[in-house]
Amino acid sequence: MKILIDQLNRRKFIHTLSAAAIGTGLGAPVILKAASADQKPALLGGTKAHPGNFPQWPVFDRTEQTALAETLESKNWGRLNSNSVVGKFEKEHSELMEVKHTLGVSSGTSALYTMLGALDIGPGDEVIIPVYTFIATYNVVTLNYALPIFVDTDPESFQIDPSKIKKAISKETKLIIPVHIGGSPADLDKILPIGARANIPVIEDACQAHMAEWRGKKVGTLGLAGAYSYQSSKNLNSGEGGAIITNDDDFAKTCYTFHNQGRGGSTSGFLPGTTGTRGTNLRMTEFQGNILRAQMARLADQTRHRWENAMYLNKILGQIPGITPAKLYEGTTMSAYHLYMFRYDKNHFAGLPREKFLKALTAEGIPNSPGYGQMNSEAYVTGLAGNRHYLKIYGEKRMKDWIDQNQCPKNDHLTQHEAVWLFQTMLLGSREDMDQIAEAIIKIRKFAPELSKI
Ligand SMILES: Cc1ncc(COP(=O)(O)O)c(C=O)c1O
Repeated sequence: MKILIDQLNRRKFIHTLSAAAIGTGLGAPVILKAASADQKPALLGGTKAHPGNFPQWPVFDRTEQTALAETLESKNWGRLNSNSVVGKFEKEHSELMEVKHTLGVSSGTSALYTMLGALDIGPGDEVIIPVYTFIATYNVVTLNYALPIFVDTDPESFQIDPSKIKKAISKETKLIIPVHIGGSPADLDKILPIGARANIPVIEDACQAHMAEWRGKKVGTLGLAGAYSYQSSKNLNSGEGGAIITNDDDFAKTCYTFHNQGRGGSTSGFLPGTTGTRGTNLRMTEFQGNILRAQMARLADQTRHRWENAMYLNKILGQIPGITPAKLYEGTTMSAYHLYMFRYDKNHFAGLPREKFLKALTAEGIPNSPGYGQMNSEAYVTGLAGNRHYLKIYGEKRMKDWIDQNQCPKNDHLTQHEAVWLFQTMLLGSREDMDQIAEAIIKIRKFAPELSKI
């Protein structure tokens, strides 16, 4: 049985459906409070569907204050001491992730950069990345003068399309970086065997995916290694910060030395030793380490809260014609829901363009974003074809071919017309908050013809 959305619009009511009728999940009845038919969208002079505030971010209390004060007073502000707090964070994080090694670093970008350094990715190498990602995934490749090869998006999941990875592999391919975008796992059952068959390492960009799981294992532990970000918007936050996780002892050691100026033996903690031939300073500070320990204690509960609200939203939004929540692949046992992503089809909203839909949603008190654009077409990226170093390394023809190779038509359509993001902080709200998101969309749909005119 489906909720009849047009019925929902007729009068103010509380509609109760049995969970069995609309799919399993939480096992509890789904209650949807819908807007009254006469209730106009806020943009047309009606009241907001969501008049209150979503939870503020970050969440903290005296625990974080005490942690910061402790580090301050310890006078050990960097990790170069025998009993570093970063070392404690790494141990606790490894336990949480059920992984052998965690290396705290200064950012998610640093985590990726360190791993590329440890793999000695350099000029002439190609690295496969999804086009639908944050620019950092691309930047760490070009910082090494390697060539990023974009793979188109699976619009149903917003993740890298695994069926297009094989075609992107050449004899120069040295690395594949799937990204668990929005905090939901990419299809690792398909991606990892492609890497294994071609003898190309896979490292996971899990910067948005704290606590996400693939078949019961934390993402970042399934490939050679994984990168996490603790930048301030992330589900685990120390303002800036990042980590590498891996079960590979040698790789862990090489990452450590790379992030510590090529020095392995002179600091305490993580696997002393000297491997690799290049390095820099990408160390995490003790302040970051201690605040992360405090924040980490909240992570499991927050993750569950987001997941339950996202499952609920999937049920209620998934029944609104023209709204399709991002698909989770079958192996997903947990998503971090750093972003709640869905597709908007204006054909079910009287042709109302996405930009006007988003404006109307904002007016209802529902923060949102159209999300990433077409990274492969941005001047910042296409300009690489004229970069003097790239011309020297790869030649004019290869760089021209690279531009042609970078076409991602599915991603173009998704990002230009359909994609909508809600944010992780909203998923920390109440069930009423979730109902009000649905109410806002139902209202906008009903009044779409009027909204098209303004
Ligand atoms: C997918 C992805 N990769 C990498 C990064 C880089 O992380 P940071 O901002 O901590 O450098 C981010 C952060 O936004 C991200 O979302």
